[in-house]
Amino acid sequence: MRINKFLADKGVASRRHADSIIEAGRVTINGVVATLGVSVEEGDVVAVDGQVLSAAEKKEEYYIMNKPKGVVCTVSDDRGRKTVMDLLPEGVGRVFPVGRLDYATEGLLILTNDGDLAFRLTHPTTEIPKTYMARIEGTLTEKDLNPIRSGVELDGILTKKCKAHIVETNKAYTKVHITITEGRNRQVRRMFESIGKNVEFLKRVSIGQLKLTGLDRGQMRPLTEQEIAYLKGL
Ligand code: URA
Repeated sequence: MRINKFLADKGVASRRHADSIIEAGRVTINGVVATLGVSVEEGDVVAVDGQVLSAAEKKEEYYIMNKPKGVVCTVSDDRGRKTVMDLLPEGVGRVFPVGRLDYATEGLLILTNDGDLAFRLTHPTTEIPKTYMARIEGTLTEKDLNPIRSGVELDGILTKKCKAHIVETNKAYTKVHITITEGRNRQVRRMFESIGKNVEFLKRVSIGQLKLTGLDRGQMRPLTEQEIAYLKGL
């Protein structure tokens, strides 16, 4: 088995993040620093940062969190900011966030140690609809949303067609429900910036049929068997 898949299966990191851990020289196989693409054979002793990974079957864990703003979606932050890891209650294993929400964005975040599921859910070809509630400064009309619906250029590449509709509008702000199937950097904020609008509040409310309902800011709960089966079927 490839070393990055092995690390993902053990819940060390997503397959992509595993590559960077390997490249950083933090992984050894039988005491020898591993390189990208090498294979792990049965009986090999694999260690990360000198810590040997147990051969025992890993128990997979899946959680849904209502990420508050002011928290980063990484396992550690070089600027010393609070991370979602700081919000994990006692007893939660070595899970990591699936995909990212910006520092200033709140809402639905999945955390797991199932590297394969994380890989599939964040892969660009999977195209899972993710719905956000965006509060935009000032008034907007349905017509103003048309460029966003049909695709705007970000970094020279058009965004995919998406759904957007106004939930509430007044002189001060407009609330928009927007559903995108991509996960580009700061995508929703930049889509509105491209039509000259500022997103002053952004919250992810669903991923596919999985909804945030019932979770207060900063709270998390294990996903149910049905929710896990649903995500695995996406
Ligand atoms: N779009 C954004 O702008 N930010 C997020 O965190 C997610 C989607």
